[in-house]
Amino acid sequence: MTNEHTMKAATQCIWAGEEDYLLQGATQVPVVHSVSFGYRDVDEWQAVALGQKAGHIYGRNTNPTVHAFEEKVRQLEGGEAATSAATGMGIISSALFGLLSPGQRVVSVKDTYGGTNVLFTEFLPRFQIGVTLCDTTDHAQIEAEIGQGCNLVYLESPTNPTTKVMDIARLAAAAHAVGAIVIVDNTFATPINQNPLALGADLVLHSATKFLGGHADALGGVIVGRKDLVDQIYHYREINGATLHPMAAYLLLRGMKTLALRIRQQNESALQIAQFLEGHPAIEQVFYPGLASHSGHAIAQKQMRGFGGMLSFMLKENSFDAVRRFLPRLKLAHAAANLGAVETIVGPPATTSHVECTPEERAAMGIPESLIRYSTGIEDVDDLIADLEGALRPFT
Ligand SMILES: Cc1ncc(COP(=O)(O)O)c(C=O)c1O
Repeated sequence: MTNEHTMKAATQCIWAGEEDYLLQGATQVPVVHSVSFGYRDVDEWQAVALGQKAGHIYGRNTNPTVHAFEEKVRQLEGGEAATSAATGMGIISSALFGLLSPGQRVVSVKDTYGGTNVLFTEFLPRFQIGVTLCDTTDHAQIEAEIGQGCNLVYLESPTNPTTKVMDIARLAAAAHAVGAIVIVDNTFATPINQNPLALGADLVLHSATKFLGGHADALGGVIVGRKDLVDQIYHYREINGATLHPMAAYLLLRGMKTLALRIRQQNESALQIAQFLEGHPAIEQVFYPGLASHSGHAIAQKQMRGFGGMLSFMLKENSFDAVRRFLPRLKLAHAAANLGAVETIVGPPATTSHVECTPEERAAMGIPESLIRYSTGIEDVDDLIADLEGALRPFT
């Protein structure tokens, strides 16, 4: 029915990965809750178990609904293979522990998502895996560290929460020159705005909990890329057991049908909001890759098709107390530890992405105490701007 190489992203959002599962005329992929899949023919059972024939054996390993979700993301990211996990952190930790061995070395940056940062600073070192975290936008330093030799380069662009941008093509070239694998967390950009595999990455991953699902009702993680690497990650994930639940896979699949539409609106609204905030007297700084004032704007223009729905801003009154007074004044924003949904969501890094870090660690990452992360929803942008204007009034 579909040709993945000619379909545009908005069409893939609707059709990709689904056709094999439309049972008896159903127009939606069914939620297959069965834990196991039975066979009358023992030889066929064995062929499926050995991976010689397509099919499913046991729900911790694979499931038809979960597979349809993986296939949709695989096509949107343009990769060879995909596998998933119960959460974004489930896929990130499965990738790192599935691919790395003691004595190996990772080069990454200081600004990765807080949970990823904990893997780098606490867990990988326990297994004698060396990790060097560079200044996120100092490309020369990152290249120099890669040049010393490493096995894996882990990037995230734009970053959470200050939307720093890394030149994926440049760093992938440096990594490949020393034979390292490149992984990119593409959660903030989504495959609608950026395809890291096309820029040279070997693997691209998502917290599907965020924009892919888009409705804040299902957790999930997914990784796409080179089949030999995805197979290794899948092998570790089937054993650690962090399997994506079929019901969550169904909700993510349903959410993804509107991904292209949502992202188009979120790109547009976030840019207008960033421009409004940049001109507001109560705001010290706005972090949004679509603004000419953003340090990574030129790179973002080169590697992204849109600048995304995520932005953050710093109040002139730079204290956590100011955040405490400001947030409840917003009427059209959920103050919550999530992002990427149809509703606008706000939160300070101290209670969301970087809750695992101490205030000193946050300061070292350049995260000010009055920073507010703003995940733009699909409400009317005039209402969102009016809401921000009202909430900021006492701060001018
Ligand atoms: C950029 C990024 N990567 C990964 C994760 C982890 O995802 P999950 O909460 O689904 O485990 C998050 C969560 O906020 C994130 O923002």
